Amino acid sequence: MPPLTSVARLMPPDAPPHRPIRSYVLREGRLTAGQERAFAALWPRFGVEYTGIPLDLPALFGNDRPVWLEIGFGNGDALATLAERHPDRNYLGIEVHRPGVGHLLLRLEAHALANVRLLRHDAVEVLRSALPPASLTGVYLFFPDPWHKRRHHKRRIVQPELVDLLARVIRPGGLFHAATDWGDYAQQMLAVIEASPAFENVAGPGRFAPRPDERPLTRFEQRGQSLGHGVWDLLFRRR
Ligand SMILES: C[S@@+](CC[C@H](N)C(=O)[O-])C[C@H]1O[C@@H](n2cnc3c(N)ncnc32)[C@H](O)[C@@H]1O
Repeated sequence: MPPLTSVARLMPPDAPPHRPIRSYVLREGRLTAGQERAFAALWPRFGVEYTGIPLDLPALFGNDRPVWLEIGFGNGDALATLAERHPDRNYLGIEVHRPGVGHLLLRLEAHALANVRLLRHDAVEVLRSALPPASLTGVYLFFPDPWHKRRHHKRRIVQPELVDLLARVIRPGGLFHAATDWGDYAQQMLAVIEASPAFENVAGPGRFAPRPDERPLTRFEQRGQSLGHGVWDLLFRRR
């Protein structure tokens, strides 16, 4: 019998395999007939399979224009609006929720948007293994799941590890823009990102940014506004 490693020796023989803490729970809503069709017909055009091998972004987009990433694009309305506004930029979107991906695929087709590619995978793993260093000009994180119960805070996507991963993939001078409608998460994000020497707070130390015009107003935010929710924007530059 091969010798046990020190870790294996500490584990009870029936211990479950290590499961990472994820920032989402996959609840697969039903796809509409249109979304089903989108996956069959459009995923081959816009979709990128995660393999864990770093992507060749210029080959993926067919050009070497700057690449912006949106993490957790939901139904993709903000991403599609940005891609339409800036045909001179490339946009990579990551989302795990199939109906949201299907919704965006339909919009990409309807608006003939050629500068968008999508990954359906855990964004943390994509940042860790599928993106080359300094390959992105900017990263957006709009309204990440707030995981508002204290015992769930470990699931929040903004953690020191995420900031280190962002520092690796955003080129010097590039931007990280986050927004949330959850006050205590906003404070946590500010503290965690400001603790990294890799990023400079564009608004000044300890400050939130004024709402950048660049961030599209989504239905989600409009609904929040009508309910009187606050929104906090955080804008950081990679040093
Ligand atoms: C509260 S929604 C916000 C969606 C959108 N950004 C908006 O502003 O409407 C958060 C989204 O992030 C996605 N998400 C959470 N963690 C993720 C991860 N690790 N990788 C990819 N997507 C993730 C969820 O599936 C969900 O659609």
